[in-house]
Amino acid sequence: MQTINRLTELRAATRAIKAEDKSLALVPTMGALHAGHLQLVEEAKRRADAVAVSIFVNPTQFGPNEDLDAYPRMLEEDSAKLRAAGVDLLWAPPVSEVYPEGFATKIHVAGPSSGYCGGARPGHFDGVALVVTKLFNQVEPDIACFGEKDFQQLAVIRQFVRDLDINVEIVGVPIVRDADGLALSSRNAYLSAEDRQAALALPHALQKAREAILSGGDVALILSDAQKAILAAGFANVDYFALADAQTLAPVSALTGRPLRLLAAAKIGKTRLIDNLAVE
Ligand code: PAF
Repeated sequence: MQTINRLTELRAATRAIKAEDKSLALVPTMGALHAGHLQLVEEAKRRADAVAVSIFVNPTQFGPNEDLDAYPRMLEEDSAKLRAAGVDLLWAPPVSEVYPEGFATKIHVAGPSSGYCGGARPGHFDGVALVVTKLFNQVEPDIACFGEKDFQQLAVIRQFVRDLDINVEIVGVPIVRDADGLALSSRNAYLSAEDRQAALALPHALQKAREAILSGGDVALILSDAQKAILAAGFANVDYFALADAQTLAPVSALTGRPLRLLAAAKIGKTRLIDNLAVE
């Protein structure tokens, strides 16, 4: 695996891959890699001849009250995992290489970035759109893999890729769950044993709501019962528990004949967990 920190070197490396007529997949990450990320790498390997992973803790997607400095950085461990996973190229630029002095461009994606996590984290998805656009222009992949765990992020990325005619195929990779159903997240490490057990109320509520909606139940009532069940299990609050169109993320109150998604975010102790489930 080649580790690259400078854009000129990256361009040479991707040119060499393309000169061999190989297809290239990109897995964008912010590091602190877990099994969910490695699943993205596996999917990328299945779909392309060569795989690049980026590790970049992107300052523009952190709000003023979010602790950018506290975000875990563990390049050596991450690098070892990626090497073992058979990744060809690790793109790990410093901040100055991505946002050089004088950088002045912003991107705003309306539509799927409003509400849900976008409501709780103003400007977050603009920062994601900016850095992912830059990563696409830097690496020039044929495809890029993102986890469905961050379903709103995936919808935002699909939206601007379509809107800006970016020539990259976006692949959504299903959520990886622990055996008991909890979605994998680096945040699960912050849960006490008791909260880890109580956190299962989130995926359980999603499953139960999905079955009730598909059986023709009243959506508003189902969503409200789900929130009550999550709070009763010991969560401190439910940020949102909603049924949305899977592409636009517009809230819906009944089956529409289009793919739908249940989206949820809730806080247990000090940890905010997100999860989602297809309703099709
Ligand atoms: O999902 C993430 O890890 C980040 O939001 C991403 C897509 C790598 C952009 O910084």
